[in-house]
Amino acid sequence: MDLIHGEGGSELFQAQSHMYKHIFNFINSMALKCAVELGIPDIIHTHNHPISLPQLVSALHLPPTKTRYVNRLMRVLVHSGFFATAKVHENQEEEDEGYVLTTSSRLLLSKDNNNVPNLSAFVLAMLDPVLVTPWHFLGDWFRGNDLTAFDTAHGKSFWDYGSHDHKFFNLFNEAMASDSRMMSLVIKDCRPVFEGLGSLVDVGGGKGLIARIISEAFPQLKCTVFDLPHVVSNFPECGNLKYVGGDMFQSVPTADAILLKLVLHSLSDEECVKILKKCREAIPSKEKGGKVIVIDIVINEKKEEHDITEAKLLFDLLMMTVVTGRERNEKEWEKLFLEAGFSHYKINPIFGLRSLIEVFP
Ligand SMILES: C[S@@+](CC[C@H](N)C(=O)[O-])C[C@H]1O[C@@H](n2cnc3c(N)ncnc32)[C@H](O)[C@@H]1O
Repeated sequence: MDLIHGEGGSELFQAQSHMYKHIFNFINSMALKCAVELGIPDIIHTHNHPISLPQLVSALHLPPTKTRYVNRLMRVLVHSGFFATAKVHENQEEEDEGYVLTTSSRLLLSKDNNNVPNLSAFVLAMLDPVLVTPWHFLGDWFRGNDLTAFDTAHGKSFWDYGSHDHKFFNLFNEAMASDSRMMSLVIKDCRPVFEGLGSLVDVGGGKGLIARIISEAFPQLKCTVFDLPHVVSNFPECGNLKYVGGDMFQSVPTADAILLKLVLHSLSDEECVKILKKCREAIPSKEKGGKVIVIDIVINEKKEEHDITEAKLLFDLLMMTVVTGRERNEKEWEKLFLEAGFSHYKINPIFGLRSLIEVFP
């Protein structure tokens, strides 16, 4: 085929566009981070109707030399669906357009947001240099012997790093808490999962956001957040919620049910089986209602939308790069549960990217 003059030429240019789009995809991520750093979602929200470019520029309080760049940042963010444009003056002839929020940017508001969670900390943590740098070391990691590319980049594991860099780790824990706030949107649909339980331990529960949401929704349930000592050391007991520090690889506190949210996906198969066995020892028998509740990703490429699978596959590489974990399909989950001595499980796919899996002894 004559690639220069024939049809192949346009195919090659299409391939070039495809490649450049992927080379520069990180700019979408960084533009989003910049919007969060500048507080653009809050400014648009506070304005209450479409905000014109000059109004946005004025609210941003930037040095005069920077104001002429704002429209270019906004153009990309409109293109990627984080903002939209609408007429500034409804019912008038004027064509002036202003920026409005979309559902995605509603998830970035810090206040007055009808209980919609704020995922800004998630944006800032995941795009922090601490987590972005390891991606530059992926090739070196593949060729070398380090456990993760994070280790290659930083010389220590992610959790070791976290115990030293408190600023970053606080941001990371805030990011995980913001992710957990999304749970408050669906907890009412999960009543049967928690009803009848007397106690629950959230293993690797971080700042305890999800445990707090569950303890408020089910006041009869005694909830314990179990995490590394430096993560939970500053949290006092409050009502039916308490914090316990420890190492889940050694033992986990006993309870009717153990919750593992976004914990197993950060661990290797061997580590997961180890933790699941510890959890099995910590809960009562099947007859007495014991169970483990796993909230995590289940990959289902055949049934789900392309964008959902893409987000899950990117999470999988994130787990490979930062920790020793992975995202799993149902067969892979089943193998772990059976290996750890559980008899059956039930998957409830209800949290967007996440599923809730009940695992029974
Ligand atoms: C990915 S975070 C998930 C946090 C929380 N479950 C959530 O969804 O927001 C994993 C958690 O496991 C905790 N963790 C890591 N190693 C641990 C260990 N050996 N023992 C107890 N907790 C551990 C971390 O401190 C972190 O809070």
